[in-house]
Amino acid sequence: MKIEDNQEIYIENVSVTELAETYGTPTYVYEENRIRENYRRADRAFRKYYENFKFYYAIKANSNPAVAHILREEGAGIDAASINEILLARELGIDGEDVVFSGNYLSDDDIEQGLSSGVIFNLDDVSLLERLLRIGKPEILSFRVNPGYGRSNVGDFVTNAGPAAKFGIHPDDVLAAYKAAKKAGITRFGAHMMPGSCVNDPEYFAHITALLMDIIGKVGRELNIDFEFIDLGGGLGIPYSPDELPLDIEMTAARIADVFTEKLKEYGLKPPRLVMEPARYFVGDAGYLIGRVHSIKRSYSVIIGTDVGMNILARPAMYGAYHHIYVNGREHASCVREKVDLCGQICENTDYWVKNRELPKGIAEGDLVVVENAGAYGYCMSYQYNGRLKPAEVLVNGAQHYQIRERESFSDVVSGTHIPDHLRPA
Ligand code: LLP
Repeated sequence: MKIEDNQEIYIENVSVTELAETYGTPTYVYEENRIRENYRRADRAFRKYYENFKFYYAIKANSNPAVAHILREEGAGIDAASINEILLARELGIDGEDVVFSGNYLSDDDIEQGLSSGVIFNLDDVSLLERLLRIGKPEILSFRVNPGYGRSNVGDFVTNAGPAAKFGIHPDDVLAAYKAAKKAGITRFGAHMMPGSCVNDPEYFAHITALLMDIIGKVGRELNIDFEFIDLGGGLGIPYSPDELPLDIEMTAARIADVFTEKLKEYGLKPPRLVMEPARYFVGDAGYLIGRVHSIKRSYSVIIGTDVGMNILARPAMYGAYHHIYVNGREHASCVREKVDLCGQICENTDYWVKNRELPKGIAEGDLVVVENAGAYGYCMSYQYNGRLKPAEVLVNGAQHYQIRERESFSDVVSGTHIPDHLRPA
């Protein structure tokens, strides 16, 4: 994104005015080149320090097929959270062991379909093993370990390990899980964790790598298991507010590789493939949300009403998450600023997504607002409510732009619903 001299905002080489006029608002817009740069920067860094390395893109963060195709082209596999994400991966041409199925609290139906799809199962609990074996025996199996500690810049909301997390296997139970799997005749193994999302500190990654390796290392040594892969999860962070520093990816890769190889030696493990399954790092800062100001109220505070609501961008109402925003045409370096609130059009008082923030004075009806860092956990967490519909998605490459998802329409409000005969008007 860039702001030109006339204060017009460009996403790659397309102005937000053109995008809003062509596709309407609210619309999610993704920069293809930024996604590729993010992937390549990270892939280069990890391969430099540990050659046998692979990324599985956690498609939950942005499941638009066009976006996922970019990451497939770059070489990523897919981390799937559900059967539908496995099917989506297959539509992209990614299947078999290029897909890790990391769903949690699975139903028998999930297990059955997961097994027949031939992807790598990553079990969230030892209780699932028994149920899995009743249905079939996978060739390769991984367990998700709760290493007892996790962290997130999004607060406790997105901390996925430690005593308060619903995910993963307690460290004391991991050995028994692999023992049972081995006894059942499974011969190929991986190991996994996903302790937190959005962390910008390389030392955190070194620390959790050590935690996992100390748990898994003992298992490997005791059960004589050569892990084929060890998956450190996602979590590579991006800065959301201007005062946060970006993650030093080079340092992160170096520190992870250091600890990883040292622990392999310590436990006498054969070097496996090192895997990570990030999402936010690839797509987060490549996405923007363009919204329009529709109505301004000057009351107890200045309330700018936009078509970006909690149904369009859920993160602020859900986690109190910060998203930086720009007002198209008004971002002079020396512009006078005033404190305002921004809300959406939903009938809920949590539908504020900016509170008490200094923005250029004089914001008017019809102005466009551009939300940064909307590429991950944006569209995919949007929903219909109050008859407000899910937005459009657009991909930009240079001066070209492509609609990659249509905006919903009224037919989507009633689609799939049925009215029993006795309720039909005579
Ligand atoms: N692997 C697994 C098993 C996951 O559950 C996740 C994300 C990832 C990988 C990718 O994590 P990342 O690299 O993006 O941190 N909705 C929240 C984030 C929830 C993360 C859920 N799991 C947000 O908007 O901040």
